[in-house]
Amino acid sequence: MALLDILIYPDQRLHAKAKPVDQVDSRIQQLIDNMSETMYSAPGIGLAAPQVNVLERIIVVDISESKDSLLAMVNPEIIDSEGQAETEEGCLSVPGIYAPVNRYEKIQVRAQDKKGESFELEAEGLLSICIQHEIDHLDGKVFVDYLSRLKQERIRKKMKKTLRIT
Ligand code: NI
Repeated sequence: MALLDILIYPDQRLHAKAKPVDQVDSRIQQLIDNMSETMYSAPGIGLAAPQVNVLERIIVVDISESKDSLLAMVNPEIIDSEGQAETEEGCLSVPGIYAPVNRYEKIQVRAQDKKGESFELEAEGLLSICIQHEIDHLDGKVFVDYLSRLKQERIRKKMKKTLRIT
């Protein structure tokens, strides 16, 4: 396994749309392993392939305290949703920034697992929020995009300053 470099906002590559995965083969499985390792090491609770500069529809999520409940989703799709919830979100691509975002409270998701098997999942609470956040990344959307222009500008400036220092 290998750690992958995470793109940092406002890197324009974070706004590209990812393509569906045709076949879950050993290359995709390896990518899922590397993405998981990168997520755990960051540490974070979710990571999408575009964040490591791979434009394919793959996300990994683990919201458990013990970090032993990895959920890998290939070609995830929200097929049903219910309610609304506002949650303070953060992102490995926007380190140190947290802001409230409004999302569905509950979702029904369809995806393929690491073996290419199709499955469906009902999620609520943090898991629901996290999956929606990661699927957004597949469509080139970062949570900052939901904030006011003024806030976005402030975050961009702050991130550019941080990038110059490190
Ligand atoms: Ni993110």
